[in-house]
Amino acid sequence: MQSGTPAGRPLRDTRVVLSGLVLDNPVIPASGTFGYGSEYREFYDINILGSFSFKGTTREPRFGNPTPRIAECTEGMINAVGLQNPGIDAVIAEELPRLRTFFHKPVIANISGFSVEEYAYCCERIDREEQVGLIEVNVSCPNVRHGGMSFGTSPEAAAEVTRAVKAVTTKPVYIKLSPNVTDIVSIARACEEAGADGICLINTLLGMRIDVRRRRPAVANTMGGFSGAAVFPVAVRMVYEVARACSVPVMGCGGVRSARDVIEMMMAGATAVQVGAENLRNPYASKEIVEALPAEMERLGIERLSDIVGIVG
Ligand SMILES: Cc1cc2nc3c(=O)[nH]c(=O)nc-3n(C[C@H](O)[C@H](O)[C@H](O)COP(=O)(O)O)c2cc1C
Repeated sequence: MQSGTPAGRPLRDTRVVLSGLVLDNPVIPASGTFGYGSEYREFYDINILGSFSFKGTTREPRFGNPTPRIAECTEGMINAVGLQNPGIDAVIAEELPRLRTFFHKPVIANISGFSVEEYAYCCERIDREEQVGLIEVNVSCPNVRHGGMSFGTSPEAAAEVTRAVKAVTTKPVYIKLSPNVTDIVSIARACEEAGADGICLINTLLGMRIDVRRRRPAVANTMGGFSGAAVFPVAVRMVYEVARACSVPVMGCGGVRSARDVIEMMMAGATAVQVGAENLRNPYASKEIVEALPAEMERLGIERLSDIVGIVG
């Protein structure tokens, strides 16, 4: 899509390409903040988005963690949802057929697991679904006791999941990494060497709040994933480090809430940018960011968004 301004002025080209997948714009609601799409179609036509990443899906249905699962923070939130999802069978039998009726673009399938075999099983199943354009493998969930983040905090484990998934899929595979590590570059490189087509980062930062009146943790799980505007500088730094160290594309995520944030993250090295917690604060957030991009590009003298990826050397 070429987003134009009144006659005589240059068109603003918002298109980006992720491993051969052409997106009209780089704006992608992040997994866990956009369900399977149907929740948001009540608010707007979601075809305006570049794509979206659906809720982290596992082999079995999951009820998630006990409540309360959310704690508000200054410029952010803690969530301990615990991968609540209907399971891969229901996603294939119900969610994807429903999605096809109102979303006419490729979707990003976010997959989670508790063992290497589970990741491979779910990715192999979802790979056969026509509307899935890209598979995002979440090795970074901080809210489950086994699996999840433990695969994303060691280069060897992240590489093992990558290899297992790549062996059974044909679509681009992006590994979604955790910021809860000291050396993100070694983990990203291990995934790239194991065959990952791209890297997505960041998932949430492990955090905790206390309800001081009750003298108890604010979320029932004790700790949870901290995200929202406050984590933006951490995300920009990690995108920058990984984009410089790897040659595969990076999807940036963390604290994005404006078109200017999208541009900043792309300058750090992201080819596409995800919007998470901001969708929960303002259900129109992703739409408003897409709509604001051409004017922001004009203000900053950018004609083609893809030209600025990693421009900060
Ligand atoms: C309520 C909630 C649920 C989430 N669930 C998932 C999930 O299922 N899979 C996943 O990969 N990331 C999940 N995330 C992480 C987001 O996709 C994103 O990586 C993170 O929140 C950072 O972006 P943000 O600062 O824009 O929220 C979740 C985040 C929130 C706030």
